[in-house]
Amino acid sequence: MEACVGEDGFNKVMNNRLDYQLKISCKNCLHKHKKGLELMAGPGRNIETILKWCNELEVLDSSEEMLKHCPDLMKKHHTAIQHFDWPQDNYDVIVGVWFLSYLDATESLDVLAKIHKSLKENGSLILFEPII
Ligand SMILES: C[S@@+](CC[C@H](N)C(=O)[O-])C[C@H]1O[C@@H](n2cnc3c(N)ncnc32)[C@H](O)[C@@H]1O
Repeated sequence: MEACVGEDGFNKVMNNRLDYQLKISCKNCLHKHKKGLELMAGPGRNIETILKWCNELEVLDSSEEMLKHCPDLMKKHHTAIQHFDWPQDNYDVIVGVWFLSYLDATESLDVLAKIHKSLKENGSLILFEPII
């Protein structure tokens, strides 16, 4: 059983699970060069884990302040997700941790359809959302 004590414990457990999901997704991925996008990346707590599996990572967040936490090496999309100009057939993996809860039902469906088009063939969407 995984120990989950306090915020650090929670982050550790979540990162282990994210790592596991990325491992499965990247095994199924056809491309050697793996390109990822993290949605609503916030303080960047998932970046290290995602970078273990992606050669290139882009991050998206509507907050400039939050994007300052993400390393400058990566491409940063400073925009509300509702206004993102999604490139077609572009990403091998898209990760969203606690992002759907920021959208209403209509926005969620619209964004999910755009994510689908933005993923390459056999690309993966990994979502972690709280269940209330
Ligand atoms: C709870 S944090 C989640 C951060 C990160 N996914 C994590 O696991 O730590 C939510 C983030 O979403 C961003 N955000 C909220 N609404 C957004 C929107 N409509 N478009 C893009 N980013 C948004 C906020 O700026 C914040 O950084």
